[in-house]
Amino acid sequence: MTNAAADSAQRPLRVAIIGAGPAGVYAADILTKADRDFEVSIDLFDQYPAPYGLIRYGVAPDHPRIKGIVNALHKVLDRGDIRFLGNVNYGRDLTLADFRHFYDAIIFATGAIKDAPLNVPGVELEGSFGGAEFVSWYDGHPDVPRDWPLDAKEVAVIGNGNVALDVARILSKHADDLLTTEIPSNVYAGLKKSPVTDVHIFGRRGPAQVKFTPLELRELSHSRDVDIVLYPEDFEFDEGSDEQIRTNNQTKTMVNTLTNWLVEEQDTGACRRLHLHFLHNPVEIYDDAANPGKVAGMKFERTELDGTGNVRGTGEIVDYPVQAVYRAIGYFGSELPEVGYDEQRGVIPNEGGRVINEDGAPVPGIYTTGWIKRGPVGLIGHTKGDALETIGFLLEDRLNLPAATHPDPSSIIELLEERGVKYTTWEGWLKLDAYERSLGASYIHPDPLTGELVRERVKVVDREEMTRISRGE
Ligand SMILES: Cc1cc2nc3c(=O)[nH]c(=O)nc-3n(C[C@H](O)[C@H](O)[C@H](O)COP(=O)(O)OP(=O)(O)OC[C@H]3O[C@@H](n4cnc5c(N)ncnc54)[C@H](O)[C@@H]3O)c2cc1C
Ligand SMILES: NC(=O)c1ccc[n+]([C@@H]2O[C@H](COP(=O)([O-])OP(=O)(O)OC[C@H]3O[C@@H](n4cnc5c(N)ncnc54)[C@H](OP(=O)(O)O)[C@@H]3O)[C@@H](O)[C@H]2O)c1
Repeated sequence: MTNAAADSAQRPLRVAIIGAGPAGVYAADILTKADRDFEVSIDLFDQYPAPYGLIRYGVAPDHPRIKGIVNALHKVLDRGDIRFLGNVNYGRDLTLADFRHFYDAIIFATGAIKDAPLNVPGVELEGSFGGAEFVSWYDGHPDVPRDWPLDAKEVAVIGNGNVALDVARILSKHADDLLTTEIPSNVYAGLKKSPVTDVHIFGRRGPAQVKFTPLELRELSHSRDVDIVLYPEDFEFDEGSDEQIRTNNQTKTMVNTLTNWLVEEQDTGACRRLHLHFLHNPVEIYDDAANPGKVAGMKFERTELDGTGNVRGTGEIVDYPVQAVYRAIGYFGSELPEVGYDEQRGVIPNEGGRVINEDGAPVPGIYTTGWIKRGPVGLIGHTKGDALETIGFLLEDRLNLPAATHPDPSSIIELLEERGVKYTTWEGWLKLDAYERSLGASYIHPDPLTGELVRERVKVVDREEMTRISRGE
């Protein structure tokens, strides 16, 4: 080995990870623990003062079991060997060229936060909402309006994935049953006033083609004072369905659950109903003369299975009077400045996490992981596999990475201060976390079964307030 090569092999590796969702945290953790004979120093950036990405701004508030994952991620960041820099936006506060100065490698783990588009007429009407927007509202995302128009009695939710279940469950649950969760006060107040009576979930394929997971499906039946309604004409199974039921235990379990619900009497006279419809393809959202510009209903074409588990239209149009439509047909990743973007898939073009240019060649020192790497599908745990693959390639490439010109960890801080960026730190998050927990402890609500309950936290929503608390200002 030449002296230069030996120097390069010994040089500490400086890595920036952009996005402190699960993918970013797992990547940092895996890199820190990798078997290596050189030092690694990692800065983990996020645009928000709070880490955890969609765990904080996507996972439904009535899913407390996810807290176990948060505890594990907290432990990783609390070790002190990964530096968290919050409230720093890639593209606005720092450019790619900036990152290139300070780091040998940059990993984009920016996830996905917006809705995939539904291309039907009337999608722009008042009362037609993106599921992702509604999720951001009920999860207290700082960048969405604080008020949500919950004035519909009958609501359509489009899609048969877990997000559709989350949206439909939150819309149909009684607000008081969410009072033990971390929902912000404005969300409780909004849901409390909702006059909703019927929430209809529409899937374009059959019961064996749902993208739900069994636990999440079963959870629908746990909502107090909400009946589940199913329709026999929607229960169609073709060869593709039978094969799916035979070979996939999850599908089998869900088809059993749905069939049992269909057969058993579900009508308990509850004051809210959750309808599950299958074989309904969205055709049009429409308004009427009484309320021009506002959703008055939605039309679907009935579909039938084609033998393979896919569907074809039957030509029969059915019409549901609803006053709001929530489109939960998938999330979509956003384009980032100075990095390639696949407009069809909403991802950064890459090969196993190595970002590639238009000619398909790897861009030296640039990597990606998580949902922005492979699209918005999969659970939190799946981002660990993404991170393993990406970090594997990064370590393989290490000796050929373009070396940072300012690798000293204090240099990036100097630049952020020079630009007046109000960055936050891990210690800052601990302050905000403690503050939110103390807010939670100050709300005590009587629970009919167990007596009084203390809420674990109440989220701070306003970004300025989050930043002030984190920075101790
Ligand atoms: C509504 C919903 C509910 C879900 N519920 C569950 C569940 O209950 N259980 C489960 O296992 N999975 C659930 N998932 C899936 C899970 O959330 C994802 O698998 C996971 O969050 C993807 O991780 P990620 O790190 O790639 O992206 P994200 O979690 O989206 O994290 C990306 C991070 O990048 C940051 N970022 C983006 N752009 C920039 C920028 N320009 N500069 C700086 N930072 C930036 C974001 O602020 C964010 O913190 C749910 C998903 C959704 C949409
Ligand atoms: N509790 C949890 O564990 C949890 C909660 C939320 C999300 N997640 C995960 O996060 C990921 C994303 O979930 P998601 O629900 O956003 O996406 P998803 O699982 O991909 O489901 C999207 C649904 O929308 C339907 N769809 C797509 N385009 C459509 C169109 N044009 N018209 C009508 N329907 C259309 C799909 O139907 P087709 O199948 O016919 O394409 C599918 O039923 C998933 O992996 C999910 O499991 C997990």
